[in-house]
Amino acid sequence: MTRILGIETSCDETSAAIVEGTGDDVVQRSLVILSQDVHRVFGGVVPEIASRAHLTSIAPVVARAVADAGLTLDEIDAVAVTYGPGLVGALLVGVSYGKALAFGRGIPLVAVHHMEGHLFATALEHRDAVPPFTALLVSGGHTLLIDVEEWGHYTVLGATRDDAAGEAFDKVAKLLGLPYPGGRHVERLARDGDPSRFRFTRPMLRRDQSPGDDDYYDVSFSGIKTAVLLAVRKLGADSSALDDRDRADLARGFQDALIETLAEKTLRAATQHGRRRIVLGGGVACNNALAAAVGERAETMGARVFAPSPRLATDNAAMIARAGLFRFERGDRAGLDLNAYATLPLATLSHSNA
Ligand code: KG4
Ligand code: ZN
Repeated sequence: MTRILGIETSCDETSAAIVEGTGDDVVQRSLVILSQDVHRVFGGVVPEIASRAHLTSIAPVVARAVADAGLTLDEIDAVAVTYGPGLVGALLVGVSYGKALAFGRGIPLVAVHHMEGHLFATALEHRDAVPPFTALLVSGGHTLLIDVEEWGHYTVLGATRDDAAGEAFDKVAKLLGLPYPGGRHVERLARDGDPSRFRFTRPMLRRDQSPGDDDYYDVSFSGIKTAVLLAVRKLGADSSALDDRDRADLARGFQDALIETLAEKTLRAATQHGRRRIVLGGGVACNNALAAAVGERAETMGARVFAPSPRLATDNAAMIARAGLFRFERGDRAGLDLNAYATLPLATLSHSNA
């Protein structure tokens, strides 16, 4: 049995967690997530403010995760830390703290890819959310369709050509005069919206596409965002001219277009690779309409869909500790020269053993 402390500071949550176990038999002992609400005022994450906020909270957040688990630092076997992709200044706080902790306690340091963490998140709650599976990771910064043959072996099938799914939700929320981050507000409004009033084109989704085509799995959301903008302008100058019905109908039209695109592409991936399990992850996986749309389609091919609870769908250190445990068991160790990376292709993980 190995006990891992995970640290995540890639964006605007300072998070620490402890998990323990072996293989896929893993238990979460604690999870602390401190969300930096300050960015709401600016309508988006301000990198410099994020780094500073991580600096003030990292030590108490880690101490709290250790205390919540009923443990002391002496009882931790290794430290796992997110080293990319993300905001480099924010990542550096976690990486530096993780290094210092590992060095000070004389325990191993394990570097974790943030998106690999998201792949592991659902497995903390559902024992069957393990490979082989098709993964759809949808957050504010990423939209990835991945075939997971086994842990550590990932094939990125598709990605967004422009905005990430969460980014599209946030931009449309802004057009509708909703607060940041807007995804959950758009979802709430869309529930009462009329699905037939605004029917936006499904981007990069056509019947004549076939598996070899380069847009078979890729998605694009900037077009729907522009279509919403034009519809808002048609109704008046800006969001202040919209009434509650307009807002709900626009939210519904947008959400339906985005979700249908993601759900269809996810099912294409599962069908092509013969996967019977689909795992969702990232903040947009909190969207119940998305999970329902993927679920409906999956049922027709006898596949199961696993979506993490909101706490594990959004950025958190439990998923980093969980992925770190896998890396630790494989023998992966990071040196004290570990750096942080703003961009870090997931594909580089599949064949590395360093
Ligand atoms: O994974 P996450 O917490 O942070 C990163 O971006 O890494 O994802 C945040 C994104 C935001 O864009 C937010 O608007 C979106 O997830 N989101 C949602 C919902 N809840 C959060 N989007 C659609 N529906 C939701 N219920
Ligand atoms: Zn994330």
